[in-house]
Amino acid sequence: MITVKDADELQALVTGWKANGLKVGFVPTMGALHDGHLSLMRMAKQKADKVIVSIYVNPTQFAPHEDFDAYPRDVEGDAKLLDSVGVDALYLPLESDIYPDGASINVQAGKAAEGLETEFRPHFFHGVATVVHRLFEVVQPDLAVFGEKDFQQLQVIKEMVAEKDMGIEIIGGPIARDEYGLALSSRNAYLSEDELEIARMLNQIIHNVAQDPGEEKLKEAEQMLETTGFDQVDYVRYKSEWNRVLAAGWVGKTRLIDNCATQ
Ligand code: PAF
Repeated sequence: MITVKDADELQALVTGWKANGLKVGFVPTMGALHDGHLSLMRMAKQKADKVIVSIYVNPTQFAPHEDFDAYPRDVEGDAKLLDSVGVDALYLPLESDIYPDGASINVQAGKAAEGLETEFRPHFFHGVATVVHRLFEVVQPDLAVFGEKDFQQLQVIKEMVAEKDMGIEIIGGPIARDEYGLALSSRNAYLSEDELEIARMLNQIIHNVAQDPGEEKLKEAEQMLETTGFDQVDYVRYKSEWNRVLAAGWVGKTRLIDNCATQ
């Protein structure tokens, strides 16, 4: 696996691959990789000839009170994992390549960003759309894979790529879960043993409500999460156009999100 920091170097690599008729897949990440990420890399490997993974903890998608500084970082460990699943290139962008004019680049997220996460993290999709747009400009992949755990994020990116006619196929990778059904997330590392037990109820509760996602059941699910030990429930909502029940809440200082397809 090649590690590249410089945008020009990466572009030369990609141009060479494409000139040889190779299909380039891309998985953007913020590192602290787990099996969920690796399943996205494997999916990209199946669909493309060459796979690039980026690791960049993007400051513009964190609000000042959020965990940007504390976000887990282990580039060396991540690089070993990426090598083990056959990733071809690891891109570690320089701040100056992503935000050449400071944080002034601005890509607005579209309609898919309305509601849900945006009610609680109003800055979030603007930061995600901006960084993903810039990464796509640099990497110029044929396809990119994103996890379905961040289901609204996936819709925001699909919408952005379609509206800007970027010609990149966006693929959603199924949620990877632990043996108790907890969706894998880099932030799970913050959970204590007791908190883990509470967090593991989230999937069960939204799975049940997804069988019959009426208003009353959604309210009941929020109450059940609180009874289970969630310190705050941001939402349990049904989005008919996505056929999904989506939920977010806090266990201690850790914010969890999850979603489940309806029948
Ligand atoms: O899902 C993530 O890890 C991030 O939001 C992403 C897509 C890499 C953008 O920083």
